[in-house]
Amino acid sequence: MTGTEPAVQRIDTSKPHPARVYDWFLGGKDNYPVDEQLGRQITSLDPGAPRTARANRWFMQRATRMLVRESGIRQFLDVGTGIPTEPNLHQIAQSTAPDARVVYVDNDPIVLAHAAALLRGTPEGATEYLQADAREPLTILQQAARVLDFDRPIALSLIALLHFIPDEDGARELVDTLIDALAPGSCLVLSAMTADLEPEKVARGIAAYAAGGVTLVARSHAEVSSIFKGLEPMDPGIVSVSEWHPELAEGETPLGEGPVSLYGGVGFKV
Ligand SMILES: C[S@@+](CC[C@H](N)C(=O)[O-])C[C@H]1O[C@@H](n2cnc3c(N)ncnc32)[C@H](O)[C@@H]1O
Repeated sequence: MTGTEPAVQRIDTSKPHPARVYDWFLGGKDNYPVDEQLGRQITSLDPGAPRTARANRWFMQRATRMLVRESGIRQFLDVGTGIPTEPNLHQIAQSTAPDARVVYVDNDPIVLAHAAALLRGTPEGATEYLQADAREPLTILQQAARVLDFDRPIALSLIALLHFIPDEDGARELVDTLIDALAPGSCLVLSAMTADLEPEKVARGIAAYAAGGVTLVARSHAEVSSIFKGLEPMDPGIVSVSEWHPELAEGETPLGEGPVSLYGGVGFKV
């Protein structure tokens, strides 16, 4: 685990943070009144917001299951991990493959403060947490190489991360840099917010986040697809996360009617 000063001293409770608002949506307890306030405000504008968070979390679970069980992936680099919510990615992967190796990365000190839960993996496998910014992919690659073998396939998971990073801040370059470092047989697992399906609701959500000081960017289907350029898409391509391999669901409760405004997909490096 890396971090140069006690995490608790760096947690800013005066303004909302994406990881903590997301934790509130998921019914977690690791958030502060400012996060709850923004979460409630967003929910008043878009009552489906907590449901979107659940659907996204389940996409991560289904994609991880699919990759471990059917694609033989044993290594994961999960950037933008969030506050631990069970089951975490390593628990899903290691329940099928105890030797799976997982490196988690987030830039929010509250995630570092809870990283111990991310490090309780199997003795045969490995889990590591890096406190780092996705916009510094070379730092991530250098540190992740202590745990992951970059000569073998790795699943790079960027789940509900890129809508916090506009293209002007290097979203595309960071993805390209990370993918370039991966061996053939590796893959990108990605989910990202879209305004394609419910433009007005999503615009209201973006405005509420902006009022809380958090920049969010929605991407069209064409824009999300272009992030996968050069990769071989896995069926069914880029779809709403709730429609991605529903047959792999385990322990999911009914989501209810209506679209989920997050695209998700998996693409392989050949
Ligand atoms: C909505 S949460 C998603 C958590 C988890 N991936 C999931 O889908 O359940 C987004 C996470 O991305 C992290 N994040 C946002 N910008 C980041 C950046 N520039 N570098 C690293 N992490 C970032 C936030 O701190 C937060 O934990």
